[in-house]
Amino acid sequence: MLIRPRRNRVNEVIRSLVRETHLSADHLIAPLFVIEGNNQKVPVASMPGQNRLSIDLLIQEAKELYDLGVRTVALFPAINENLKTPEAKEAYNPDGLNARAIKELKNALPEMMIMGDVALDPYSSEGHDGLVDPKTGEILNDETLEVLTRQALCEAQAGVDIIGPSDMMDGRVAHIRQALDAEGFSRTLIMSYSAKYASAYYGPFRDALDSAPKKGDKKTYQMDYANANEALREAALDEAEGADILMVKPGLPYLDVIYRLKQNFTLPIAAYNVSGEYAMVKAAVEKGWLENDKVIIETLISFRRAGADIILTYFAKEAAQILTK
Ligand code: PBG
Repeated sequence: MLIRPRRNRVNEVIRSLVRETHLSADHLIAPLFVIEGNNQKVPVASMPGQNRLSIDLLIQEAKELYDLGVRTVALFPAINENLKTPEAKEAYNPDGLNARAIKELKNALPEMMIMGDVALDPYSSEGHDGLVDPKTGEILNDETLEVLTRQALCEAQAGVDIIGPSDMMDGRVAHIRQALDAEGFSRTLIMSYSAKYASAYYGPFRDALDSAPKKGDKKTYQMDYANANEALREAALDEAEGADILMVKPGLPYLDVIYRLKQNFTLPIAAYNVSGEYAMVKAAVEKGWLENDKVIIETLISFRRAGADIILTYFAKEAAQILTK
């Protein structure tokens, strides 16, 4: 036998020499849930290990993440039910929970990059990412763009570094980019949720924020999970509209989409390892069916191998801890 592939696997040193893919805390973004109050830490039942944190504890958590090398966080506020309206006005309240969280975290830890979500669902009494036509139930695209833009400007004014439009309305990246530039925020990045699918894997996230749609589903704006060419079209539009980074979401069931985007675009690619993917691993670990640390690293490496430069993941802190061991 002339060719023996096993020679390149004979010990850890050669395996390290020939390893094609690497993972470090540099690649990770930690999503964090925020609530009102002081010293409040409310566990998310369907996401063992994840909590909704009041701003003081959020700052503490962000410091720990930063010290572990995770230097970007994505904030998701859980808004009190009585502040949710059909117009989602709370989305751009400069004194609201989201803006305060951004401002206070930025003051406490200026070197941490903060990503703000742009979509109406946490603020909408309808639980939709866009405005709902009260007569027809239709999700209104162009009317929604105005609100999303106000929300993005509110976050930029509060000090956000990255705007993450997760709403999937047509034309939102250009609309937000133009408004940011007009208001002097030309340095604020846009990481667009370019290929965001209508997925059942978002269940635990909607529990965390109590943000599930009151009626219907999100299939008229989020993508059909049977489609991949459509992801390339969405990504091309976002690139043309000025996105700095393209994102695929969910992650694990869409590694093929991540790979396609990486092959077809030169912009950095992010993947969102979503709440349901986290819940699956943690549930199996709790049952003793999977080994926590090994499964986390194998999972995150799979994103990198598929072509993701950046991974948004609830495993960020644990992964950083495992990697430093
Ligand atoms: C809403 C939003 C969702 C997630 C991030 N932003 C849920 C949804 O679209 O219903 C999901 C994240 C996760 O499941 O971890 N704009």
